[in-house]
Amino acid sequence: MGTTSSPHSLDLDLSTLRSKTSTGATSSCYGYSNAQGHIAGLMLGDSIKMLSELPSDVFNVAVTSPPYYWVRDYGYAGQIGHEDTVDGYVNALMSVFDEVKRTLHPEGVFFLNIGDTYYSGNGQPHGRDPKCASRNFLRTKVRPVDMSGWDIPKKSLIGVPWKVAFAMQQRGWTLRSSVIWNRVNAFVEPTARDRPYRQYEFVFMFSKSRFYSFDRSKLVEEDVWNIPIERSRRNHNASFPAELVRRCIEVGSPPSGHVLDPFVGSGTTILTALQNHRNAVGIDMSDEYIKQVTQLMSAEGFELVQWHNVESHLRKPSKSWQNWKGNRLNFRKPGTKR
Ligand SMILES: C[S@@+](CC[C@H](N)C(=O)[O-])C[C@H]1O[C@@H](n2cnc3c(N)ncnc32)[C@H](O)[C@@H]1O
Repeated sequence: MGTTSSPHSLDLDLSTLRSKTSTGATSSCYGYSNAQGHIAGLMLGDSIKMLSELPSDVFNVAVTSPPYYWVRDYGYAGQIGHEDTVDGYVNALMSVFDEVKRTLHPEGVFFLNIGDTYYSGNGQPHGRDPKCASRNFLRTKVRPVDMSGWDIPKKSLIGVPWKVAFAMQQRGWTLRSSVIWNRVNAFVEPTARDRPYRQYEFVFMFSKSRFYSFDRSKLVEEDVWNIPIERSRRNHNASFPAELVRRCIEVGSPPSGHVLDPFVGSGTTILTALQNHRNAVGIDMSDEYIKQVTQLMSAEGFELVQWHNVESHLRKPSKSWQNWKGNRLNFRKPGTKR
């Protein structure tokens, strides 16, 4: 693999590393390889646009946690999660996930971690979270979920994850599981005096087709996953735990398979994929987060490579694909020998 001519340093100037993708558009795309020959791609920009630069039918598994509806402020225009209506939010996610579907291998699976929001309707800014900067806007801003006039009672849980799941079905995804991620060390919610604290989130498992590949032997638990939150890791307070990502990657891809995260944030998916001998591509619109991940890659000794190396690597299936236990052609029908 050829390296870029730009030296990689910890005070990396992202603009110096722009490279051309195969469609000719100039984007901020950074390719890396490690000593084991695995590759990682980092794309800075809007998910829909960046996904449109990627080849079709290549990723074995996608794992992501999108911005939730009006829970945080990532501080830039174009972020998902600040739509005026829940329908607007669901549609924004569907546009991204249509592209995820195109890039996913025909036998690929998609794990979507998504949380809910309450409709307060009381006309006041809501909530206090002095420990979390990205939630500070809740104290001053009247969000759409704080405004009156919705067609559900005030104080209702909206059911955002299921609205997203049903919309995914309408777009042709097969919903195969609604895994409950039991966040065993979840915080208490000081404002929730008249209901149980929220301790779990969903991890929906979708497949692109009814017939897909999946390594059941790698499942750690069935559809309730007991995994602690990893707090304040890598300066991103909405990161999901590496163990959650590891489980999705292990069941959904062969060794040296290809992993995608369209909202990569602090890089949990990329780093977990590489640690578990997979290739990965991650996208985020925050230059701060992308910069942090590039610095981490550099610190861990990854070598910069040209973007076309990432693309050509993705177009080749893993050498383990044919013999992988999860390949559906290797599934044993009950009562038969392979
Ligand atoms: C919940 S966080 C993901 C955290 C990630 N799973 C981790 O472990 O760090 C959602 C991410 O989506 C990014 N984001 C929001 N809108 C986006 C958009 N339109 N395109 C790309 N990324 C976006 C935010 O910058 C944020 O990092």
